Amino acid sequence: MKVFLKKDIKNRIKNGHPWIYENEIERIEGIPENGGIVDVFNHEKSFLGKGYINFNSKIRVRILTRKAETIGKNFIKKRFLEALERRHTKEKSFRVIFSEADNLSGLIVDKFQDYIVLEINTLGIEKLKNHILDVIIELFNPKGIFEKSDSNSREKEGLKKYSGWIYKSGPELIPFELNDLKFFADTQGQKTGAFLDQRLNVKSLERYSKDKVCLDAFCYTGNFGMHMLLYGAKYVTFLDYSQRAIDIVNLIAKENGFKNYETIVGNAFDILKQFDKTSKYFDVVSIDPPSFAKKGSNKKSALKGYKEINLRAMRILKNHGILATSSCTQIISEEEFDNIIFSAGIDTSRITRVMHRGAQPYDHPYVLNILETKYLKFRLLEIEKIKE
Ligand SMILES: C[S@@+](CC[C@H](N)C(=O)[O-])C[C@H]1O[C@@H](n2cnc3c(N)ncnc32)[C@H](O)[C@@H]1O
Repeated sequence: MKVFLKKDIKNRIKNGHPWIYENEIERIEGIPENGGIVDVFNHEKSFLGKGYINFNSKIRVRILTRKAETIGKNFIKKRFLEALERRHTKEKSFRVIFSEADNLSGLIVDKFQDYIVLEINTLGIEKLKNHILDVIIELFNPKGIFEKSDSNSREKEGLKKYSGWIYKSGPELIPFELNDLKFFADTQGQKTGAFLDQRLNVKSLERYSKDKVCLDAFCYTGNFGMHMLLYGAKYVTFLDYSQRAIDIVNLIAKENGFKNYETIVGNAFDILKQFDKTSKYFDVVSIDPPSFAKKGSNKKSALKGYKEINLRAMRILKNHGILATSSCTQIISEEEFDNIIFSAGIDTSRITRVMHRGAQPYDHPYVLNILETKYLKFRLLEIEKIKE
């Protein structure tokens, strides 16, 4: 099946971006099976690459390769080997495949020690699932593979959500270790069960946590707070509005032998305000909210949300306290994030001193040609009152 693009194709495609929108296509030769592989040509009939098509999606074709090669098991294996080579890691738990950033648009694969959790976000990848499973089994011989394909984006692809063990089976809570701490990836939880993308950023708290009173807000299963405890925190408050996440915080704390902590189930916006009202102050605060906007049209309210939560976090920090602030909203840039922090500092009469900047770790690489792969921003700041 052949897809021919319009004459003035966007530089984006020429420059290596894999997405082709429906309005960029001139004509299609043959009747491709939905989700099947097509060859893509420019207006002069020069071959551009191969990818999969989806008639339900505005992103009509996603290119998988710029070579005229067969898309089958060998191809998938080659992509996995390239991703492993790129990562060059001895870690036991890491992201093996990060979708477009690893030239496999629509697929996410996380390894949690002996188990694999995968997320399929497109019909084209769904059709390649058997090859993907074969390759994972061949390369990792895992104890089990869990599919956690429950993102809302599947609807746009005409796919239903799916969650379950697809190879052997395993525990609901998958145990794994990270930076000398025991964790669980929750197969019934968020995303692939645990957030591996902050595991290098949390290390920046090592020099600031000892003997400190800390808050891990939007904690999920407590990644930031567990690290604060590992680094000698005096006391940690974990806060999330998911009761299930907090139940797992308790399990993880127990596994690691931590007792000097409390948990709160509630809305971080309200609870931080409450802390301020009751003069409950912290030496270190982490805020790691979920993405506040997916589309440009929601950007304004996302910026407002970030400003509000950063402002509230600054208000409950002791003078010269440490703020670890994150944003995983892809459409908010580094510069915009810095501006929000600066502006929250101005409104609370604080100096915002950046001690460390973080981003995505090496196994969540971002590709400058594919803006959508860059999402995580992390700042560790000292927050100083302008006037005591
Ligand atoms: C990006 S995750 C945090 C990941 C975590 N820091 C880690 O490294 O594993 C965001 C968390 O915020 C929680 N959340 C979302 N909105 C919230 C709110 N308004 N108040 C409290 N928690 C919220 C979600 O339940 C989720 O666990």
